[in-house]
Amino acid sequence: MARVEVEGFPVVEVEPGSTLLEICEDAGIPMECACGGFAACNSCRVDVLAGMDQLTPLKEEELAFLDGEGQRLGCQAEVLGDVKVRLASGM
Ligand code: FES
Repeated sequence: MARVEVEGFPVVEVEPGSTLLEICEDAGIPMECACGGFAACNSCRVDVLAGMDQLTPLKEEELAFLDGEGQRLGCQAEVLGDVKVRLASGM
């Protein structure tokens, strides 16, 4: 199991392989999803506070929507192990 902590919300334990967006939706954590999870907006963007290496590798299509190296799109990043993230400001 992987521990996923979204700052300000209770820690959830999940099977590895789900995206951060799927995990937040299942846990009732209000991650925005304006484009439906197709890497076409930045509403699901997160700041990764710990465990960047426990997310699947950055995808080319994410780059246009990120402000820095410490960010990922929640709809594209699959969880492999323990991570801590913060919901970033949307569009
Ligand atoms: S929901 Fe739009 S990029 Fe993730």
